[in-house]
Amino acid sequence: MASEKVLSHLKNHQQKHVEQLCDFLRIPSISSVSAHNADTKRAAKFVSSELKELGLAVEVIDMGGHPLVYAETEIRPDRKTLLFYGHYDVQPVDPLDLWDNPPFEPVIKDGIIYARGSSDDKGQLYTHIKALEAYILQGEELPVNVKFIIEGEEEAGGESIYKFTEQNTEKLSCDAVVVSDTTLYNETTPGICYSLKGMAYMEITVQGPGMDLHSGSYGGSVQNPGNALAEIIAKLKDADGRCLVPGFYDDVLELEQDERDGFAELGYTDEILCDETGAPAAFGEKGFTTLERMWARPTCDVNGIACGYGGEGAKTIIPARGLAKVSMRLVPNQDPDTIAAAFSAYVKEIAPTGVKVEVSNHHNAAPVLVHRKSEMMNAGMIALEKGFGAKPVFIREGGSIPIVGTFQDCLKSPVLLLGYGLNTDNIHSPNEKFHLDNFFRGIRTSAILMTEAAK
Ligand code: BES
Ligand code: MN
Ligand code: MN
Repeated sequence: MASEKVLSHLKNHQQKHVEQLCDFLRIPSISSVSAHNADTKRAAKFVSSELKELGLAVEVIDMGGHPLVYAETEIRPDRKTLLFYGHYDVQPVDPLDLWDNPPFEPVIKDGIIYARGSSDDKGQLYTHIKALEAYILQGEELPVNVKFIIEGEEEAGGESIYKFTEQNTEKLSCDAVVVSDTTLYNETTPGICYSLKGMAYMEITVQGPGMDLHSGSYGGSVQNPGNALAEIIAKLKDADGRCLVPGFYDDVLELEQDERDGFAELGYTDEILCDETGAPAAFGEKGFTTLERMWARPTCDVNGIACGYGGEGAKTIIPARGLAKVSMRLVPNQDPDTIAAAFSAYVKEIAPTGVKVEVSNHHNAAPVLVHRKSEMMNAGMIALEKGFGAKPVFIREGGSIPIVGTFQDCLKSPVLLLGYGLNTDNIHSPNEKFHLDNFFRGIRTSAILMTEAAK
């Protein structure tokens, strides 16, 4: 347990921490929109300045994209080292008209803070900075060496952090990587996450005639890219929700019986799902429970389709082209490059004649699996239990954090995924939010972890 001094410091500074988080949230650091490049720089500056003020050695690193922030306390060889990872960049805000308040003007209502980035990931990342600050301001000796690597391209598929990690394994060496960019199990139960999904993100373009054609004059004479695209998409999955890309399931690591039992004990129901999402019914691959599908089965989903006329009223055309974005969320031990190649080959094979079909691969991420039994996992469990006042459960996530797999490969250290968000925080969506209680408990957890990890 962290000292009384540290814990009471945290209690006495809650208001201040919220105000400071608001300042962080006011910076519109949208990494995928170049008009916001100055803002991503400002967000990097915000975290680097705070860490500098705490006396850490700080570097702001330009690897050609948005800046990375690296910081470390004095490194003493007799202490263990924790490396905290987070991202200061945020998702775009559209559709803007669905926000109840402007996304970069944080509003607090009923103990919940609303703003883009509040849960993903500024609010979660900030918990570690405030926990470290408590030790330093209270003059408490740090139980561990602390390093931070904070990036600004997580939401944009940027390369900077990969390059930096591969070139700086010594600098980043640690006894555990700590990441708070996931979720609790639910409002009352913290979770320790031991698997993230990976990803292969694909784009299909279907090119027909050189321009939109009058659908009467030329109807029946050429292949329609919209119909062709629909045919392709219809063949991606069967009626039971299984992906039809050949070899798709070959390398899927099946769930252990104790994992299935553990999931079942959590008591997640389709009713909860429908309640959380507003969906009329649950749906997915036959033979698996909803939680199994969400956490441990690969998926193949259309993310967007654009083709022809979608405006008011009717417009009679045969569209010139169509495009679809498709994400495949992958599980251990699927390889994103292999899956991307299998997808491309399959789409080419099933493409109707009379159109030109191209498939490209946007970005990939490796799936992650963490050992459930380790000293660090125990330290994380204890910290979560004391920080949240409730016993944590083992969970997996459907989301991806691309750099985590690279940390595992390059640094060979265990990864602790201590998430403080909720699935219902509306991340990537209008009205993103973060429960202040979870913010405070997250800070406590992080402070306690620093002590527990030292043991
Ligand atoms: N923090 C999320 C990942 C996440 C989402 C974890 C939900 C747990 C639950 C992260 O910022 C994110 O959005 N990742 C992207 C990665 C993609 C761009 C490669 C994702 O999962 O879509
Ligand atoms: Mn995130
Ligand atoms: Mn995100």
